[in-house]
Amino acid sequence: MSKNVVITGASSGIGAALAQAFASKGYNLGLAARRSDKLETLARELEDKYQVRVAIATLDVQDDSTIAAALSGLAQSLGQIDMVVANAGISGVRRSGSGNIAIDKAIIQTNLIGAIATLDAATKIFLAQGHGHLVGMSSFSAFSPLPASAAYSASKAALTNYMNAMRLELINKKIDVTIIHPGFIKTDIAPQMEKYPFVIEADVAAQQMVRAIESKKVNVIIPNMPWKAAKGLMALMPDPLLAMMFAKFMK
Ligand SMILES: NC(=O)c1ccc[n+]([C@@H]2O[C@H](COP(=O)([O-])OP(=O)(O)OC[C@H]3O[C@@H](n4cnc5c(N)ncnc54)[C@H](OP(=O)(O)O)[C@@H]3O)[C@@H](O)[C@H]2O)c1
Repeated sequence: MSKNVVITGASSGIGAALAQAFASKGYNLGLAARRSDKLETLARELEDKYQVRVAIATLDVQDDSTIAAALSGLAQSLGQIDMVVANAGISGVRRSGSGNIAIDKAIIQTNLIGAIATLDAATKIFLAQGHGHLVGMSSFSAFSPLPASAAYSASKAALTNYMNAMRLELINKKIDVTIIHPGFIKTDIAPQMEKYPFVIEADVAAQQMVRAIESKKVNVIIPNMPWKAAKGLMALMPDPLLAMMFAKFMK
């Protein structure tokens, strides 16, 4: 029987590419984001192309009171939910000491609190039905924080830690946990993503992510190389060298 997967942040970028990759393997989909017109268009395209069922829900993860209602609406439309991918997220550059932390607040509210609320609503459904798979979209910056993106890096490090704690808590509940740490993927999340080092296309990344999720991997880096090697190397680099490298690659 086909599985049903819900993806937040499915209106563009990695979320939309994941929807394509799952649909191509016969999964039914629940797609959620704020831009319902984009979700509608994607849903009709995937239904026509792959003959899968696609339900949509308009969702703002900054308003966590709406998340449980959106997930239970999608569960009703699809029959049940086997997997939830908490993917919705934003980035933002802010120099430390600029005197206004509004961007940082929005990032933490969306990437961390929004993801926690999504994962919690999903877990409630999974505990009641006795199975499920939680997937979180963290970032390589969880391991190697980015200058001028302190809130973004912190939101992702916290999400990784949060989900690793959930994994231990849910170990005997038939609920799997996968935490994905992408390097740089070409999407609209930041301007000129194509200039970032080792950047890959979203559809390539999504195929790798689906393979890792289906294998029930726990902590995943996408693409695995060169980022896995970079993780070890960067941990050994002295701060001035790290700062110089970021200044060169990320200006
Ligand atoms: N691209 C990369 O290099 C990269 C690297 C590491 C991690 N990531 C993570 O991957 C995830 C997807 O990002 P992306 O690169 O695909 O960027 P993107 O193309 O900008 O997509 C972001 C998605 O999140 C949704 N979203 C944003 N705020 C939301 C909110 N308040 N409520 C509901 N949905 C919201 C957007 O939909 P609406 O605007 O329609 O709501 C959109 O579908 C993010 O969590 C990001 O941090 C990306």
